[in-house]
Amino acid sequence: MLAAAGPLVAVIWTSLCLRILLPAAVTFLFLADFLKNRRPKNYPPGPWRLPILGCLFHLDPEQPHLSLQQFVKKYGNVLSLDFANIPSVVITGMPLIKEVFTQMEHNFLNRPVTLLRKHLFNNNGLIFSSGQTWKEQRRFALMTLRNFGLGKKSLEQRIQEEAHHLVEAIREEGGQPFDPHLNINNAVSNIICSITFGERFEYHDSQFQEVLKLLDEAVCLESSIMCQLYNIFPKILQYLPGSHQKLFRNWRKLKSFVSDIINIHRRDWDPDKPRDFIDAFLKEMAKYPDKTTTSFNEENLICSTLDLFFAGTETTSTTLRWALLCMALYPEVQEKLQAEIDRVIGQGRQPNLADRDSMPYTNAVIHEVQRLGNIIPLNVPREVAVDTKLGGFNLPKGTMVLSNLTALHRDPREWTTPDTFNPDHFLENGQFKKRESFLPFSMGKRACLGEQLARSELFIFITSLVQKFTFKPPVNEKLSLQFRVSVTVSPVSYRLCAIPRL
Ligand code: HEM
Ligand SMILES: *[C@@H]1O[C@H](CO)[C@@H](O)[C@H](O)[C@H]1NC(C)=O
Repeated sequence: MLAAAGPLVAVIWTSLCLRILLPAAVTFLFLADFLKNRRPKNYPPGPWRLPILGCLFHLDPEQPHLSLQQFVKKYGNVLSLDFANIPSVVITGMPLIKEVFTQMEHNFLNRPVTLLRKHLFNNNGLIFSSGQTWKEQRRFALMTLRNFGLGKKSLEQRIQEEAHHLVEAIREEGGQPFDPHLNINNAVSNIICSITFGERFEYHDSQFQEVLKLLDEAVCLESSIMCQLYNIFPKILQYLPGSHQKLFRNWRKLKSFVSDIINIHRRDWDPDKPRDFIDAFLKEMAKYPDKTTTSFNEENLICSTLDLFFAGTETTSTTLRWALLCMALYPEVQEKLQAEIDRVIGQGRQPNLADRDSMPYTNAVIHEVQRLGNIIPLNVPREVAVDTKLGGFNLPKGTMVLSNLTALHRDPREWTTPDTFNPDHFLENGQFKKRESFLPFSMGKRACLGEQLARSELFIFITSLVQKFTFKPPVNEKLSLQFRVSVTVSPVSYRLCAIPRL
């Protein structure tokens, strides 16, 4: 009944809105926006903006991160650019990035949260929390990831086991053209499952597939128009049907999935033998009988767990898809990689992390995949915590700060072939060479929490796959480095053939 009434309400609202409310609202908003958003003295320069929409209309919706180039040229390295109604600046160049992420980082440790995220997560968890909650949750997550074997044996073994399952799943394709997306997603999220829940799922497990689908949908829904509108008019939108309601439903389902697993853990929980992240968190919760002084409560357990999924799956999976694509596109690189694998590891055993030190070429290939893939081009946004002076400009508290990682990763002064895949960027006299202008995981106290884990996964997955297969474009299908922008920059769907090596 309600569902049927939904579209009707929407239609009435839309026509009402267009005829009466819109002209009045526009006038009011122009005024209110003007009064509210008057710029402080010495605010960074930028293109002119419309109220509410900000500068969004200036961008090419297909490639927002490329079409801004002219602004940087015109306005400089601290550029003001508003996304919808959020005042923002984009910073460019290593000197400024270092200032924001290291020297002055205490002013830039917060995350901006949209009203939508506030409604969903309310400063809980790891990625979008700030202040005391963030500090506690981050310290705990880092410590727990370490205890469950980061740098030690057990997590390495979990990654190896998963790589083995992935190899077997790909072998089943029999060398025929296939899209590796789903299998890679399953494999990568299984690593997080094993850390947080203590178990992996079979790739065909229907509940697991459902969870991955809900998460994937949630990511897509968030950029929908209704969700954007919710950020501006939450009071009205909360009563209207639309994709924002679907987003709320998805997160409710995801939370209750985790909540059920937590309850199962409680049944046979032994504080002396924590099996995984959830067990360790329950132990931390038990330490604080007074729940008002700590962030170790069930809500944060659920949100931190989901944040690990959210941050750990899409990123690593996208990078692996770039890697396989590069293998198929650059057969001469793949051959050299296979030669190094055959020399150092051979065919008789699985790759392990200790091999990494004796494999400079492999290491260079993985770094180059991350440089060219550049999957988070404007970094994850930060927020100015107190009025701050940067590069001679005043940034008021609450300003959103984006940093242009593309400008680093494609800087023609730093890279010999900035727009072409070329592992030599990371090699010198046959040895691996670190590069300063390479920051896919960002830097400083709030840099990627999963960097070590991600690097271990990339190394073991990529070497295990290229050890067993040669990746080739399907006959009559042309592969390219074309990309799609969503939460990350990912390759457009592609198919390739995995030819087993003898
Ligand atoms: C190739 C894979 C990955 C890339 C490129 C990547 C990149 C990033 C970047 C750029 C940030 C923002 C840092 C900042 O604000 O300065 C970030 C944050 C984060 N990443 Fe990753 N990440 C990857 C994999 C992972 C994995 C596997 C995990 C799982 C443990 C993870 C967990 C997180 C978390 C929890 C945050 C938020 C940290 C905070 O706000 O304190 N990431 N990541
Ligand atoms: C980031 O840098 C790249 C490369 O220089 C440029 O094309 C792009 O427009 C820049 N984006 C922003 C938002 O400044």
